[in-house]
Amino acid sequence: MAKNGGIRIAIAGIGNCASSLIQGIYYYTPERCAEGVVGLMHTEIGGYQPNDISVVAAFDVDARKVGQDVSRAIFAKPNCTKVFEPNVPEMGVTVKMGQVLDGISEHMANYDEDRTFVRSSAQELTKAEIVAELKATKADVLLNYMPVGSEQAARFYADCALEAGCGFVNNMPVFIASDKVYADRFAAANLPIIGDDIKSQVGATITHRVLTDLFAKRGVKLLHTYQLNTGGNTDFLNMKNQDRLASKKTSKTEAVQAVTKKRMEKENIHIGPSDYVPWQNDNKIAFIRMEGLQFGDVPMDIELRLSVQDSPNSAGVVIDMIRCCKLALEAGVGGVLAGPSAYFCKHPPAQYTDDIACEMTEEFIRTCRPALAVTAAE
Ligand SMILES: NC(=O)c1ccc[n+]([C@@H]2O[C@H](COP(=O)([O-])OP(=O)(O)OC[C@H]3O[C@@H](n4cnc5c(N)ncnc54)[C@H](O)[C@@H]3O)[C@@H](O)[C@H]2O)c1
Repeated sequence: MAKNGGIRIAIAGIGNCASSLIQGIYYYTPERCAEGVVGLMHTEIGGYQPNDISVVAAFDVDARKVGQDVSRAIFAKPNCTKVFEPNVPEMGVTVKMGQVLDGISEHMANYDEDRTFVRSSAQELTKAEIVAELKATKADVLLNYMPVGSEQAARFYADCALEAGCGFVNNMPVFIASDKVYADRFAAANLPIIGDDIKSQVGATITHRVLTDLFAKRGVKLLHTYQLNTGGNTDFLNMKNQDRLASKKTSKTEAVQAVTKKRMEKENIHIGPSDYVPWQNDNKIAFIRMEGLQFGDVPMDIELRLSVQDSPNSAGVVIDMIRCCKLALEAGVGGVLAGPSAYFCKHPPAQYTDDIACEMTEEFIRTCRPALAVTAAE
């Protein structure tokens, strides 16, 4: 029997990341957890295992997802992530029509339906209806999985969480937790928020950060670096629209800048999504190059190629964020959860090295100390 009836989540955006997350909830059964698991940072947090999480509400705007039970919507096109847990039972939770706002970029209309978003003709729910749904389903936490560049839609769902009294996990790079106004609103409402933009389990960002930290600690001067990313999912397709990329580039670049010994000049650091390669589907490939000067100003460089399934890479991190939010709710802690935001996200209000952020997160899990909940820096 799950502690306190488990953790009730609502999800905005039933794309590839949500699919991996929900598959994971069913994959990591108590039996599998008892055997000793592979792939999770924490089997248990505060008495909660992944399987204690249940989806109670879901919102999307795609014709193939709206009106479907969540268990089917997660496998509907254009989702293309690896299916590692096909046995996701009917949940009795129907995906409801959200508000489109700026969620669908115009250029998405130029691609084959199997690969792109198809807007549902269903009537959009009003904000009051979404808030009512979150309240009626007693959702603890709302997860935001809007496409990159959805500034209005991301804020809309954050507002819904605030009005409904839910915690908020901001998985994408519209700045909410790292925006002082929003951070203060969550603190004033005494609701926890973790964000912004998931830092995947072993993805390009954490790998690039660890190597940058290594250069700094070992006295190597980092002269130039790039991180080029390619992939074939709708996240990468959406990011072909350069106008939607500003905050993604900031989020990814700042995550690396934050651990350099000395802030790099803009022209010496290039990080961003680089191309959409349809046949890669959810396989993301990152190419990282770092050029530096060692002892005696002697040059050196590192070339690294990372190949991962993008969405499962994010899901275990989100499972931890959900559980940290639930612990905060139980402890009556509101506002930005500083340690978890720094450890689990690329663009938290305050950056720390991953070692420190990890310690802060473990401390938060042990104590839920309100002192570790801070508001965003000015
Ligand atoms: N490892 C990762 O995959 C990773 C890491 C960091 C951040 N992120 C971010 O997480 C977000 C989600 O990624 P994804 O791969 O699941 O994307 P996706 O394109 O597969 O899913 C986005 C979903 O949102 C829906 N949607 C669009 N507008 C909407 C609206 N207004 N209301 C409700 N639903 C709407 C789409 O129909 C789609 O189902 C992206 O912003 C991505 O950059 C992903």
